[in-house]
Amino acid sequence: MMFCFHLLSIACAIAGLVSPARAWPIWWLSNKIPSPTAVYEERNLKTIQGIYNLTVYPNQLPIITAGASQVPSGLFSQNVVGRVDPVGDFHSFQDSIEYFFALSPVPQANAVRAAITSFQITEFTSACANVAASVVYLFCTVVNPCSPDHGKQLATLKQVAFWRFDDAGAVVNYDAWIPNLNSWVVSTQGVPISNPQAQVQAIQQLCAFTQLRCTGANTQWASTEECVTTLSQRPFGNYDEAWGDNIVCRTIHLVLTQVRPDHHCPHVGPTGGGKCVDIPSNAYFEDVSLYGNPLGKTFTCNRTT
Ligand SMILES: *[C@@H]1O[C@H](CO)[C@@H](O)[C@H](O)[C@H]1NC(C)=O
Repeated sequence: MMFCFHLLSIACAIAGLVSPARAWPIWWLSNKIPSPTAVYEERNLKTIQGIYNLTVYPNQLPIITAGASQVPSGLFSQNVVGRVDPVGDFHSFQDSIEYFFALSPVPQANAVRAAITSFQITEFTSACANVAASVVYLFCTVVNPCSPDHGKQLATLKQVAFWRFDDAGAVVNYDAWIPNLNSWVVSTQGVPISNPQAQVQAIQQLCAFTQLRCTGANTQWASTEECVTTLSQRPFGNYDEAWGDNIVCRTIHLVLTQVRPDHHCPHVGPTGGGKCVDIPSNAYFEDVSLYGNPLGKTFTCNRTT
């Protein structure tokens, strides 16, 4: 037995010696060429990094001022639809890029001069070509070169997301969640939003800006006073409940009125324009109508539909 074993290993060693050309490419292949999964992981990670990179100030500015044409191709499919809990559903490319990029804070437009100034994808996996999951930390600081506060670290925003990609590696569906939006707003603004005085101020500011931005065919209110009186009767809401017929929903959509006033002005007006409206309690669970796939099939590998 021993003899036979030795004979076999010697035969193998000789085979290896006499045909190194055959053995070498096999070794080379298994060590140097990434597996198909690794290729897709890399591609999908690049897409996600490209998306979050455009939330970093000032990368989002061209999109705010010039719109969709400034979004590099390959990040979002033209047919993209998705959801961001607690902000709402986004039914088109335009809605999606506005959520991701036009809502990213601009320092000149908030009291604290906060902006996202860097990000890190802290968790990422992509087990198949079309699906990935990620967690991103969006690091925020004060951007105000004339102030001693410049560069001061502010609260970090977190987003947890599942993504579906088309065959070219662009995002076609997303299901994202910001677990700390309200506490982030409260800590960066330094004002508890449940404070009645802060709420009165917020409504006055919302109405003043609405009147400034929503004019002509986009006009929502006869006067600032009418706006203040009407909206003072509505629930204030909070940033963990930003999809509803409330003030917080309107303050978010007010930001977007500078990008597409014809589309977003109705959202900040008296009716809420189908966006800042009371939503059914299961609004965040309507995957079938949002994504057009059977429940549980959009963000899973080996989907059979
Ligand atoms: C981030 O975006 C900026 C501006 O659009 C671009 O110049 C830069 O190359 C991007 N970086 C990465 C890593 O994608």
